[in-house]
Amino acid sequence: MADTETPQVIRRADYAPPAFLIDTVALEFDLVPERTVVRNTMRIRRNPDAVRATHLELMGEALQFVEASIDGKPYANVHAHEHGLTVDNVPDSFELTLTGICNAAANTTLSGLYVSSGNFFTQCEAEGFRRITWFLDRPDVMATYTVTLRADKAAYPVLLSNGNLLEQGDLPDGRHFARWEDPFRKPSYLFALVAGKLVALEERVKSGSGKEKLLQVWVEPHDLDKTRHAMDSLIHSIRWDEERFGLELDLDRFMIVAVSDFNMGAMENKGLNIFNTKYVLANPETATDTDFSNIEAVVGHEYFHNWTGNRVTCRDWFQLSLKEGLTVFRDQEFSADMASGGSTVENQAARATKRIEDVRVLRQMQFAEDAGPMAHPVRPESYVEINNFYTMTVYEKGSEVVRMYQTLFGREGFRRGMDLYFKRHDGQAVTCDDFRHAMADANGRDLAQYERWYSQAGTPRITVDTHYDASQKRYTLTLTQGYGDAASAARETQKGPLLIPFAIGLIGEDGNDMPLRLEGEASASPQTTRVLEFTGKEQSFTFVDVAEKPLPSLLRNFSAPVVVEYDYTADELAFLLAHDSDPFNRWEAGQRLATRELLTLAEHAATGNALELDDTVVAAFGRVLNDETLSPAFRELALMLPSEAYLAEQMDESNPAAVHSARQFVRKRLASALKGDWLAVYERHQTPGAYEPTPEAGGHRALKNLALAYLAELDDPADAVRLAKAQYDAANNMTDRAAALSALLTAAASKGGAEAADALGDFYRRFENEPLVIDKWFALQAMQRGTKARPVIEIVRKLMAHPAFTLKNPNRARSLIFSFCSANPAQFHAADGSGYAFWAEQVIALDALNPQVAARLARALELWRRFTPALRDQMRAALEKVAAQAKSRDVREIVEKALA
Ligand code: TRP
Ligand code: ZN
Repeated sequence: MADTETPQVIRRADYAPPAFLIDTVALEFDLVPERTVVRNTMRIRRNPDAVRATHLELMGEALQFVEASIDGKPYANVHAHEHGLTVDNVPDSFELTLTGICNAAANTTLSGLYVSSGNFFTQCEAEGFRRITWFLDRPDVMATYTVTLRADKAAYPVLLSNGNLLEQGDLPDGRHFARWEDPFRKPSYLFALVAGKLVALEERVKSGSGKEKLLQVWVEPHDLDKTRHAMDSLIHSIRWDEERFGLELDLDRFMIVAVSDFNMGAMENKGLNIFNTKYVLANPETATDTDFSNIEAVVGHEYFHNWTGNRVTCRDWFQLSLKEGLTVFRDQEFSADMASGGSTVENQAARATKRIEDVRVLRQMQFAEDAGPMAHPVRPESYVEINNFYTMTVYEKGSEVVRMYQTLFGREGFRRGMDLYFKRHDGQAVTCDDFRHAMADANGRDLAQYERWYSQAGTPRITVDTHYDASQKRYTLTLTQGYGDAASAARETQKGPLLIPFAIGLIGEDGNDMPLRLEGEASASPQTTRVLEFTGKEQSFTFVDVAEKPLPSLLRNFSAPVVVEYDYTADELAFLLAHDSDPFNRWEAGQRLATRELLTLAEHAATGNALELDDTVVAAFGRVLNDETLSPAFRELALMLPSEAYLAEQMDESNPAAVHSARQFVRKRLASALKGDWLAVYERHQTPGAYEPTPEAGGHRALKNLALAYLAELDDPADAVRLAKAQYDAANNMTDRAAALSALLTAAASKGGAEAADALGDFYRRFENEPLVIDKWFALQAMQRGTKARPVIEIVRKLMAHPAFTLKNPNRARSLIFSFCSANPAQFHAADGSGYAFWAEQVIALDALNPQVAARLARALELWRRFTPALRDQMRAALEKVAAQAKSRDVREIVEKALA
């Protein structure tokens, strides 16, 4: 696209069904890196439900046209152009064969057909198939595919595509072929092929109905020792979807392939999922506990797409959350169920741990998105580049919108809705409304108001007022819903109140839940948590027989993606942290307590006032630290302070330096005030023996390593350095080794340290041949503390020149550049603007290679208007620089929306 061309805006309201339908596709590939010949034979007919078109317009990009024929005869009435190919004077039903050439070796976008480590891969979602051949590349055109792959046998011994292998064999000149057939109709974005030198871990399992299934995890030969966990995760996913949703694997064969050059996490291509190596490869030496659980979650996510996404797909890309929100919800539930295999007490706590982690991501990232120029509803109304709408809102808020059906109707009611959804829509391309109607009809409810969750951008704010009438023993909660100042986009488009499931409990002076009886009810219910259906702009709920003035526990388990405003005192929050029966809200109380304190301190730091920490906070955190009745995983989460980015977001004017000073001050105070306790916890939560990636063992490691991180904050970090060095040397797993290295880097910031430099050197040499571990090596350095004498930007710039660094590999670019720009706010937002200059350079450099990745990095500055004036001006200048130079539609959409 030329610099001056105004990008076209695609609108949901303009949806029209396709003029033609494609029923079958036969693809033949002659795979050669620079010149792959693709022959595409399609059975096409007019769509009876669309307006009659005179010609057929197919999408195509970066393709070289060779020839066309219709019903076997050469056809000259075709015109290939920049965006595709026009076929004139077509009959009502015909077979069209198109031959074209694509250059996979030169494809750095990682969309379409590309080469990675000498092997061929494809990525077609959202609009990559048009870079392979001309097509109606839109999800409401569903066809069955037969794929023939031909390639040099020595260079590409393995040839894979979707579905079942029909036949394979040798060809002349050292070549061979394989023919695959996918029996299920699918949209083009689910097509995939893989060719190259790969090996597989294989397993045969029986599905619920007794059919045998072949499962494979394909990797490069040297990675075969890191596939067991992915395979186990796949087997667990298959079982879980049968048990929880009655959904069985529909193919005889299911494959996962790992690739190191990949734009996102993974892709759910029918029967042939393609994964970023980061979400497949793991063994104790190379992967952390977080990696292990991410792999389980992503394997589950892609597998669950087989039903929610593939069997029932999206009518158009505005419906993306139909598959993504639902599938994120399913993977979250899967992980929660997997983590809570144990006793019921452990059970509750383990589920809460997962919930807390998910909510933390939502609040940190999605709430921020909702407060900036990219704010959009779960079902967007328009886009310029669809790849920019694979967002926190579509995925994470979308998942909350699905979760609320389950909160309203219970697990059984939710299952009834899912069953009806598949009964009605299996094999179709549908909308978010279709899903909502299935939930409504299966539960006998009118969910018209619920539609607003899909169409309204912004984070709702609920203010809570309470009144206790001691003489009548009545307690009234008055809820008001609206949007705060941050969500101006939301206020402008406000459509009326939302249906909000608002879960609450009332806590008595003894710390126990009180019985709940709403006015008008015959008796108190046995449940001490109630889901109030809050549907009005303002609405009151009165409880009767309330023996004493209760303390309200609001929005239990985070029952809706909203902000709750209620004036708790510090003592009340400390009480909730100690007593709430809802584990999520125990954590939440601690976070509120800390956030309030940290924001006050940040204001003091911004104005140069002295900092002082309220003893209530130290005492409350100390109690959690030493409460052995709480699970270690929960304690680790409760003792972790809200992130700097989240805190800066809460300020009237974001001031990263002030937030950093405040947070560092509190970390140091907690470290020194509780030093003996941290040391004791460090010793008590060791996990001797062989490494186990279980939630229990992981919880001990997390808490122990948090203790180490706090100890590293002390003005004299000698203890931490001694412990970290010993831990680094003795570690039999990456969780402990990386945590030790990180603690050494922290200690080095206050004291300087040969230990940190030694460990960094050792770490590199030890893992030189493990790219995913070298990513950690870059990331740890990019996220480190930094000093006046040695700002992190200098280290980052030096690392950009390291022989192991390359901008072409997205994981590597993310490990160094994104870690610095998005995960080290105090250093990135340096007062001299050095971070922003670096950001602009890298966005522009990436733009020429990989627009999708460049656009993600471009978003690091989108909240610029919310910062202090000095930073704001420099951020704007950097954005303008990028806006003047960026070429891709992807980056332009982001920076132009930011500057608008
Ligand atoms: N559908 C994929 C998922 O969420 C994500 C995805 C969308 C993707 N576009 C992509 C992955 C481009 C890689 C590249 O599971
Ligand atoms: Zn997905």
